[in-house]
Amino acid sequence: MGNPLLEVENLTMQYTIRGGEVTAVENVSFSVSEGEALGIVGESGSGKSSMAISLMKLLPENARILGGKILLRGMDLAPLSEEEIRPYRGRRIAMVFQAAMNSLDPVYRTGDQIIEALQNHYQDMNHTAARARVAELFNLVDLDPALMDRYPHQLSGGMRQRAVIAMALACNPDIIIADEPTTALDVIVQDTILRKLKQLQERDKLGMIYISHDIAVVCEVSQRIAIMYAGRIMEIAGTKDLFVQPRHPYTCSLLNAFPSIIGPKRQLLSLPGESPDLLHPPSGCRFHPRCPRVLDLCRREAPPDTDYGNGHLAACYHPMGTDS
Ligand SMILES: Nc1ncnc2c1ncn2[C@@H]1O[C@H](COP(=O)(O)OP(=O)(O)OP(=O)(O)O)[C@@H](O)[C@H]1O
Ligand SMILES: [Mg+2]
Repeated sequence: MGNPLLEVENLTMQYTIRGGEVTAVENVSFSVSEGEALGIVGESGSGKSSMAISLMKLLPENARILGGKILLRGMDLAPLSEEEIRPYRGRRIAMVFQAAMNSLDPVYRTGDQIIEALQNHYQDMNHTAARARVAELFNLVDLDPALMDRYPHQLSGGMRQRAVIAMALACNPDIIIADEPTTALDVIVQDTILRKLKQLQERDKLGMIYISHDIAVVCEVSQRIAIMYAGRIMEIAGTKDLFVQPRHPYTCSLLNAFPSIIGPKRQLLSLPGESPDLLHPPSGCRFHPRCPRVLDLCRREAPPDTDYGNGHLAACYHPMGTDS
């Protein structure tokens, strides 16, 4: 792998809501190398989008980063003010949002929105050059450049998502965060867009963080995968290592929903219960109330990461493959 591009260290972010604080991201650490795609997998509410908007520092009013570092090529974005982060956001670190429609303004023509983004970052780019760049970007994502003059509602869902990808790529970012970019689309369109994104990422050796609740989708595009649960990373490993030898019982339960083609047969685990209420999170390991391998210790203390080599870490006191 290349040099570290993004290093996230002990990132913690919290929402203030009526009734208390919700720590949606807690002590999260990982890194993405140049040209590497890291997948983030977790159930709904596990904090994936909260993590993504923290990296972009696109936080709503009621959210704040409590601690940690977001090092982009060694430069910490976490303490930057809104004004200080602007040259980085969209330019060095870009995001494809969960719902494409939310990142496109319905009252502006699709191409004009990308032109505006381009001219924000490149002040000396004139309109003709910006239009030419948009046409080039549309071609890149297999959209007819003539569509740049349409309004978002005149495009299909798949076309809109392609336009949003084009927008994210507009300023040649170093790293792109794709937050469930295809969930709203039908399966076939999902698949072609996923392939396109992967192809562009490989072509330009972009760093990528690909977020999904679907481990099967994530493994198609990622060299490494982080498993998130209730705001924490439970396990992180190379994609193959994760499949062949998952250590965390939660990872195992996710993989069980997905028949393995590369790994040996695994002991089946079912996953009773619901994902936790982050306003009142469980003590100790947040997965313990649903864990089939729970020990007393798990109820009392959050397990530290164990290093299994090769960048494979898991936070579990009773990992798979130890005893029964
Ligand atoms: N604006 C907000 N204000 C308060 N709490 C929020 C806000 N956004 C998210 N949360 C809470 O933060 C936690 C994590 O939510 P988040 O949206 O990050 O999860 P997710 O993993 O992206 O889920 P999904 O797969 O459904 O997109 C949840 O408990 C959620 O209720
Ligand atoms: Mg989300």
